[in-house]
Amino acid sequence: MNDARLSTLLENAPLDAYTTFGVTQYARFLIEVSDLPELYEAVEFARDNHLELMVLGGGSNVLFVRDFPGLVIIIKLTGIVRESGTRLRIGAGEDWHNLVDWTLANKLFGLENLALIPGTVGAAPIQNIGAYGVEIERFVTRVHVFDTHLAKALDFTRDACDFAYRDSLFKRAPRGRYIVLEVELELSDSDAPVLTYPALAERFGSDEKITAEQVYHAVCDIRRSKLPDPKVIGNAGSFFKNPVVSKEKFFKISELFDAVPGFPLENGEFYKLSAAWLLDTAGWKGRRRGLAGVFEHHALVLVNHGGATGEDIFLLAQEMSSSVLQRFGIALQPEVLIV
Ligand code: EPU
Repeated sequence: MNDARLSTLLENAPLDAYTTFGVTQYARFLIEVSDLPELYEAVEFARDNHLELMVLGGGSNVLFVRDFPGLVIIIKLTGIVRESGTRLRIGAGEDWHNLVDWTLANKLFGLENLALIPGTVGAAPIQNIGAYGVEIERFVTRVHVFDTHLAKALDFTRDACDFAYRDSLFKRAPRGRYIVLEVELELSDSDAPVLTYPALAERFGSDEKITAEQVYHAVCDIRRSKLPDPKVIGNAGSFFKNPVVSKEKFFKISELFDAVPGFPLENGEFYKLSAAWLLDTAGWKGRRRGLAGVFEHHALVLVNHGGATGEDIFLLAQEMSSSVLQRFGIALQPEVLIV
């Protein structure tokens, strides 16, 4: 190592503390970067030493199944700048939930349905985070990234990000190509929350004026009651995506099982099914395989009961998806990035 700036580079670093699954795998090299020069030098170090790059924010959507032979960069770029009335520019390393709190404290609305999502601001556009009827894509105006292939910083407009359900151009790109540096969001100064998601519609009923603050608290309550806190029990939220099937397939399953939750898409030609319901019906809630398990209140959430390896979790996930394939003929796709 001939560069003093990379003095914080760690070799054979345990990854437990850097992912919310808390699994015991190692990275050959790891560095936390909190400014751009340091980031660029870390990228150069990886290039000069032919090391694969992996960028982590909060590590809340990734499962390492083996030791990582390259360089893991932990993004700590911070800062929330109000560029104009409702437009914000936020450093990729800011904590997502802190941002939601900041926006409400500053009378900027829109992010209330996305409260308590673990992870960082930089990771949010990569998988187009979504919850309770809202996805981040509706607020994104620009994503500022470093393109490691072209070795230069670039801006992506919302359209260029090519967002889809839990997906974007960044997620589809080769791993390590784009490093998100900043995200620009356009929020609203009018307090008019989205209440379409069934759990919120039920809670708030009809006519009364509901505020973003109330929705924020409701979302926090619902999440706390259903989803495990990664600080207490290792997990990465939903492990699988909700599958989309043809109308015919949905009706076939509905004939066999009462009350299958399904949401019509694209003029009713396709239906989005609930992966949690499929797994729950297949009997997975609360089951355990050694140190890996399924959360007792939500069948879509795999948990590390303490000391599980990435492979333990992965094997359990494979067993779960095979059982859904066998029983319903549906192949579940992981939502979590498996490395
Ligand atoms: N359900 C079951 N069994 C369970 C859990 C849920 O049958 O163990 C049923 C519920 O009764 C409901 C349906 O499944 O009919 C949907 O459940 P829920 O509202 O909990 O939502 P989800 O589809 O399981 C998705 C997101 C979550 C997000 C919630 C709220 C995906 C893969 N997951 O979960 O996102 O918080 O909706 O919008 O889209 C994440 O991405 O990590 C995540 C937690």
